[in-house]
Amino acid sequence: MQANIVVLPGDGIGPEVTAAALSVLRTVARRYGHEFAFHEHDIGGIAIDKHGDPLPAATLAACQKADAVLLGAVGGPKWSDPNARIRPEQGLLALRKGLGLFANLRPVRPHPAALNASPIKPHLLTGVDIMVVRELTGGIYFGDKTRSADSASDLCSYSVDEIERVVRSAFRLARQRRGYLVSVDKANVLETSRLWRDVTARIGRDEFADVRLEHVLVDAMAMHLLSKPREYDVIVTENMFGDILTDEASMLAGSLGLLPSASLGDGKIGVYEPIHGSAPDIAGKGIANPYATILSCAMLLRHSLGLYDEADCIERAVDGALNAHAFTADLSSSGQHLSTDAAAQAVIEQMQAHCYVAE
Ligand code: NAD
Ligand code: IPM
Ligand code: MN
Repeated sequence: MQANIVVLPGDGIGPEVTAAALSVLRTVARRYGHEFAFHEHDIGGIAIDKHGDPLPAATLAACQKADAVLLGAVGGPKWSDPNARIRPEQGLLALRKGLGLFANLRPVRPHPAALNASPIKPHLLTGVDIMVVRELTGGIYFGDKTRSADSASDLCSYSVDEIERVVRSAFRLARQRRGYLVSVDKANVLETSRLWRDVTARIGRDEFADVRLEHVLVDAMAMHLLSKPREYDVIVTENMFGDILTDEASMLAGSLGLLPSASLGDGKIGVYEPIHGSAPDIAGKGIANPYATILSCAMLLRHSLGLYDEADCIERAVDGALNAHAFTADLSSSGQHLSTDAAAQAVIEQMQAHCYVAE
């Protein structure tokens, strides 16, 4: 197949991990006989520097026309002045909003070979397989913001429609998996959470009676995620809770550098990106873990291009690389570790053994 993929490397380690992931995608294209055209555009801090805008119109237009978008990360100290008027992160938020990507899928599956990288006891981690569905275009991120000399405010609001569509996505996923959905909120305090809980309960009752639904408060969930992660299947939650809980959940896998994501809406277009940021502390050193971005490419192939064998190929090759202890610094306890590019190369080598092309 032919596909147009927009690549937004962004800032910090973004260009390093996307370059590594593209080497994997190019190999997939060669093996399976596809033609992927990659179109690179600016977003984030680099776009502020070059165009004075964290999401230039040309970038958004290219994404709207593409079959899928692969993104690295945005942000960094250069653009982080608390009084800055324009920030890299605004570009990412505008992209998600502009493409209508309301559901952010963040799978968490600790790998058996990397359990030592996690601060959690290994016996709690075996068999953990969680899918977090984070609402991505509403809530406190997008409400009105005010700032005066002696006060500031961020409005958190949700409409019934916004809740219904993301919760339905989560129910559908739960139905395909183990039939268990946990909805996370703060309904003991927040009005938006009480609406969230009402809507979720109604949709469960009316449309997904076969899925077991539970409501859990976000503070308790932060604890349960670490004490009994194996119990969970699909977790759905609003924008900010989902942001925070998934960075926490990355510690089950052992590193932020292992968690991919897919941001989806009603159409085929999706943005695929690691859940981590631009990691300014390691940027430019060539040591960032590329697996989260490589696994995001697998999600891209599956969700936007419908290339299921190719997606499985990447996931099996990453499994193989981890089994072979192809560890970057964040995963290694021995002091020995691979560079970003060498880790991507290890994945490519594993394709030989793990990917079969139907004749
Ligand atoms: P971060 O995710 O960039 O880094 C947190 C820690 O995890 C750092 O110690 C970093 O070195 C490590 N880390 C992250 N990714 C890694 C990888 N692939 N391999 C190895 N180690 C990795 O979070 P932060 O430092 O709080 O934020 C830095 C900047 O990134 C901020 O400007 C923030 O807004 C931005 N950010 C962007 C995104 C995004 O573009 N989607 C996501 C999160 C944060
Ligand atoms: C993420 C990031 C972003 C978010 C920031 C950079 C706007 O933390 O993708 O998880 O909070 O959504
Ligand atoms: Mn985040």
